[in-house]
Amino acid sequence: MKFDDFPAQALMEITTRPPLVFVRGEGSWLWDHTGKRYLDFIQGWAVNCLGHSPAVITQALLEQSRKLISPSPAFYNEPSMRLAQRIVEHSCFQRVFFTNSGAEANEGAIKLARKWGAKNKSGAHEIITFEDSFHGRTLATMSASGKPQFRELFEPKVPGFPKAKLNDLASVERLITDKTVAVMLEPIQGETGVIIATDTFMRELRELTRKRELLLIVDEIQTGVGRTGKLWGYEYSGIEPDVMTLGKGLGGGVPLAGLVASERVSCFEPGDQGGTFNGNPLMAAVGCAIMDTMLGTGFLQEVQARGDYLVKQLVALSSRRSLGEVRGRGLLVALDLKRDIAANVVEVARDDGLLLNAPRPNLLRFMPALNLSQGETDLMLAMLEDVLRRVAPA
Ligand SMILES: Cc1ncc(COP(=O)(O)O)c(C=O)c1O
Repeated sequence: MKFDDFPAQALMEITTRPPLVFVRGEGSWLWDHTGKRYLDFIQGWAVNCLGHSPAVITQALLEQSRKLISPSPAFYNEPSMRLAQRIVEHSCFQRVFFTNSGAEANEGAIKLARKWGAKNKSGAHEIITFEDSFHGRTLATMSASGKPQFRELFEPKVPGFPKAKLNDLASVERLITDKTVAVMLEPIQGETGVIIATDTFMRELRELTRKRELLLIVDEIQTGVGRTGKLWGYEYSGIEPDVMTLGKGLGGGVPLAGLVASERVSCFEPGDQGGTFNGNPLMAAVGCAIMDTMLGTGFLQEVQARGDYLVKQLVALSSRRSLGEVRGRGLLVALDLKRDIAANVVEVARDDGLLLNAPRPNLLRFMPALNLSQGETDLMLAMLEDVLRRVAPA
């Protein structure tokens, strides 16, 4: 079948897609409609933490779909309780609300903070967020985001999200007023190019928010569930935030996300929050399978080792080809190409059968399956170097 034989025009144009239709995936590999194979270092934007169609997911879907798919969020179901229990047992939080997307989890976090402010801080409702941050594409999460391209879109925005500078505590302090209820940030700004909130900044921020009685919300939609080599990104700094949001890796490829909070902050009352599909047992069963895998002996240490290997090899490649900085944690890594050639690199790599992501004109981001093999990393590096030889000759 040729690309033109597919009814692509029936879909809304929400992004510019290459004329490829992906039909099958397995581990680190994807196949398009012509049968061509691609090594995938995007993995659905850091979503498929165990690669494409891993057996633990297909098994969980099969078993759960035979038992129960959706009893209604107004009733308890066993997989959602089990998954919430797994998350609270292995984090500093006590309560979970499951959602269907990261943006919906962040909307929930914003609502929870506003509710908490209404009850405990005389209606304080402003949430300080950060320049260049990304929190999703609903109206409130676009308003919370500091992505410059969002600034002019869909006005008027939801008010109440003053923007500070990442790793600059004074810029946060300056924005605190009696209307402030929380500070919200990504432990690593992923979409803007893998910019790490330093451990010192995270600790200072925790101290400041405690002192000023503000909530600290970490958006771990990209960094959570093993991506950085720890279960949650906030663990690097040793702090305990009040609220965390999860998405992407939590479902390993199926729509599952969550809002996680401490007991003290979990102030929703019946009627405040909900959703038809939220916490359905089919998705929650997948989340349980993912968490069981992450918590398996040595899994996270191996992610760390694979990340260290990728970084070391990228540093060597960068030095051979006079490129820039390599940064990241675990298997969320970026390479600065020093020139605005990233889009070209991505295109040539795709023609060669390698899927890469360029969050900025000069930057590549690597977010492979957490269980990829060293051979797959080596192959990606060899293919990338070959692309660079052609796109950016020395
Ligand atoms: C840090 C962060 N927050 C929120 C989101 C939005 O998640 P979703 O696309 O599932 O709504 C993303 C997605 O890339 C993200 O990286």
